[in-house]
Amino acid sequence: MQVGLKVWRFNSRSGERELQEFEIDAPEEATLLDCLDIVKDRHDGSLAYRKSCRMMICGSCGMRMDGAAVLACQVRMYDVVQEGRVPVISAMGNLPIVKDLVVDMGPFWEKFRSVDPFLQPGYQEPPDGREHLIRQERMNVIHKEALCINCGCCVSECNAMESDPRFIGPQALAKAMRFVGDPRDGEKLARLEKLNGEHGIWECTRCYFCNERCPKGVDPRDAIAKLGAESIAEGIDRDMGAKHANWFVHSARTTGWLRETELVPKTQGVVSAIQQTKFALSLAKRGKVPPPFPPHVAENVQEARALYDVVKTRGVKGAAGIVQGERALSRIEHMNHDDEKSEE
Ligand code: SF4
Ligand code: SF4
Ligand code: FES
Repeated sequence: MQVGLKVWRFNSRSGERELQEFEIDAPEEATLLDCLDIVKDRHDGSLAYRKSCRMMICGSCGMRMDGAAVLACQVRMYDVVQEGRVPVISAMGNLPIVKDLVVDMGPFWEKFRSVDPFLQPGYQEPPDGREHLIRQERMNVIHKEALCINCGCCVSECNAMESDPRFIGPQALAKAMRFVGDPRDGEKLARLEKLNGEHGIWECTRCYFCNERCPKGVDPRDAIAKLGAESIAEGIDRDMGAKHANWFVHSARTTGWLRETELVPKTQGVVSAIQQTKFALSLAKRGKVPPPFPPHVAENVQEARALYDVVKTRGVKGAAGIVQGERALSRIEHMNHDDEKSEE
């Protein structure tokens, strides 16, 4: 098949950037990585990109195709050709480009190392010398996080890193959850304390692009939600993000509404609220802010309270209470299936 590719070339020494177009002959089963190999072998040997395993294991071949991060060895080009597309290939985002499609992974590994990505055992050895066994259910909490291959596709798409390059980022946070949720680790609280600091978990804007682009189904945003839930369950709730989450739960339980008017004093403190009085008054004048007192209570508030009680009585705390993307989707599919059945 004939494959068209537009590749962003970049030379970090000269700063030159150029969109170069290639037309190649490739077998029908070719992946994007195979096509780049053909370009390099037969058309332009100076094209730079990374690869190793060619089977979605090593995480080396992360790059962007039409603006979205992919593993080049995962993308089959047949469908792209059938659609008549000539995709634009470029280097991953949020990392400095060294040459063409090769990025400097230094900042990525620095963040990875910052979360101490290794087990720090904190369990009692069984006295009889037998191995220390963990129930499968305990390990299921971190099953997805353990699948990460460090490819950087999530980091490439992270909105929070774009606005604050010092944000720890989705990959390092998913890795952190891998150890926070491991029942054998003895440093859970110290890890959570650190992750609740500046540039930590609460800086995530919940854009969910990391979940969308992760090729291994790690769902880093879910890992960050689990870290938040574990922090709150352990009483580490000093950050504005944690206060924000706590207030939303309290507000929904007591009135059935998200009382945003009180959100600023409850999460940022009274001083900050006073500083924003002028802005709040201008919103109130335009009817954008309901009066805070008496708090408006929803007609069916008992439903919100019942929901809260159901969650409480289930006794699900911390990470175990986070509904993960993949499970949520399968539940929705299941529900749809049930609906169809009931209509039969
Ligand atoms: S959900 Fe959070 S961590 Fe994931 S890409 Fe968006 S801002 Fe980054
Ligand atoms: S979380 Fe997913 S996208 Fe991010 S580095 Fe790991 S495997 Fe790649
Ligand atoms: S070459 Fe190893 S993941 Fe693509």
